[in-house]
Parts: sequence; C-alpha cells; structure tokens
Amino acid sequence: VSGPGWLVLSGARSSIGQCVAERWHRRGGRVLGVSRTPDLPGVDVVITLDLSRPDGITEPLTEVLERGRIAPHAFVHAAGVVFADRARHTTADERRRTLAVNLESAFVLMNALEPRMGAGGSSVLVSSIDAAMAPAAGPSAIYGAAKAGLEALVRHLAVEWGPEGRRINAVRPGPMAGGMGVNADAARYAGRAADRRLTTAAEVADAVVFLLGEEASGITGQILTVDHGFGLEY
Ligand SMILES: NC(=O)c1ccc[n+]([C@@H]2O[C@H](COP(=O)([O-])OP(=O)(O)OC[C@H]3O[C@@H](n4cnc5c(N)ncnc54)[C@H](OP(=O)(O)O)[C@@H]3O)[C@@H](O)[C@H]2O)c1
Repeated sequence: VSGPGWLVLSGARSSIGQCVAERWHRRGGRVLGVSRTPDLPGVDVVITLDLSRPDGITEPLTEVLERGRIAPHAFVHAAGVVFADRARHTTADERRRTLAVNLESAFVLMNALEPRMGAGGSSVLVSSIDAAMAPAAGPSAIYGAAKAGLEALVRHLAVEWGPEGRRINAVRPGPMAGGMGVNADAARYAGRAADRRLTTAAEVADAVVFLLGEEASGITGQILTVDHGFGLEY
C-alpha cells in the first residue's frame, strides 16, 4: 500500500498517531481518524468512537465507510490506555477498559475493516515493551497482558488473512517521553538504553509506515521492536 489510499487510524490524537497521519499524507494517502475527540487536526475524516465499548464500534464505522465510499487500504491501532497500579488495586472498570481499548477494540476494528480491504491491505498494531517486561515504576500487569494479546493477534491473523494477500504486524516501542510515557523517570529509563536515549513518537511512526508499505511486502506476523536497545546491558 505505497500509493494513495485510506488509512484507518485509532489513537489519531496521540503523538504516535499524529506522526503516522503526517507520514501517510506525505505518501499521498488519506486518513480516517478514530477518536473520542471530534475536532482532530491532521486527519481527513474523524469518526468519534469510544473504544472502551467494543460492541458499539462496527455499526457506526460501517456507516461512515459506506456513506463516504471509503475503501480502507491500511489500519493502525495506536489507541491505548494504562492505569498504573498494583494488580490487587486494579478496579474492575480499569481492567475492563484496559482490555477493551488496547486489545478487544483492535480485534473488532480489524474484523469490521477486513472484508473491505483488498489484497495488499496491511495493518500495524502498536504494542509496548510492557508485553515483554514489567516496569519498575508504575506496574500495570493487565496492560502488559493486553499488549501481549495484541502481539498474539498479529501472528494468528497473519495466518488467517495471509491467503487473501493481507499482512499484519506490530511495532513494540520502548520507554517514551510524552503521552502515557515515563515522564517522571525519563533520565533513569534513558540510562538503560544502549544509546542512552528514549524512543520518540516519530521513530515509532517511521517503523509503522514502513511496515504498512510495499517496502515491507515480505513481512507479516512480526513484532518490530523500536527501543534504542533498551535492557540489552546486564
Ligand atoms: N508513551 C509510551 O511510553 C508508550 C510506550 C509504548 C507503547 N505505547 C503505546 O503507544 C500508543 C499511543 O500512546 P501515547 O503515549 O501516545 O498515549 P496517549 O497520548 O495517552 O494517547 C492515547 C490515545 O488512545 C486513544 N484512546 C484512549 N482511550 C480511548 C477510548 N476509550 N476510545 C477511543 N480512543 C481512546 C486516545 O484518543 P482520544 O482521547 O482522542 O479518544 C489517544 O489518541 C498506545 O497504544 C500506547 O499503549 C506508548
């Protein structure tokens, strides 16, 4: 999907989402942003959806696609939410929202889009280092579990949709500043990266757009880590 085409982008308001939209536009594509925020700069069309309610996604999304005659070529799931707390203090609502926004909504969005994506369609899910490691500051076991689930989806759906020519991959960012990142402990986390730097939204977006495009036509079912070599040193 290197030429113009529609990208459906959840988390379009986040810094990763904005960097992805900017890069997709530079390639000549258009962006349908998914957000709870109706006035969203940097996207062509916004659909306001609360992804913490996955059962309410398919109908309004289908309506917007049909009304706008939008045939999606690509999908990026950058929406996410985390409630950092010890496991026993995680409330039922926090657990439900974490699983719904990070994991279930990706599954529902892809199922709604998949029949409308032609051969060459490509999806990228934004995972997290938390899928593989537990942070010392601000634990969130359920967030890590949701991101690990997202990475499993990538492998299963790559096999299920591969025969129709559709690819699916994930990008796994390391600790970042900004957004839900490691703002208070930035220096400490940077110190654990091979080059002593935190991951940026622009770097994550570059990897996302690479995986979406024809340059990555041989890559599916993979998790691409973008983390400046975090935690390689012992
Ligand atoms: N920052 C980090 O250190 C880091 C590290 C690794 C991975 N990540 C991942 O990168 C992605 C972006 O993270 P960020 O730090 O940029 O986060 P952020 O600034 O907190 O943005 C979160 C995004 O998720 C969307 N979202 C949250 N709850 C939603 C809901 N109920 N319905 C619809 N959309 C919802 C928000 O959209 P609206 O508020 O507009 O609805 C927003 O665009 C996430 O998937 C996150 O897990 C971040």
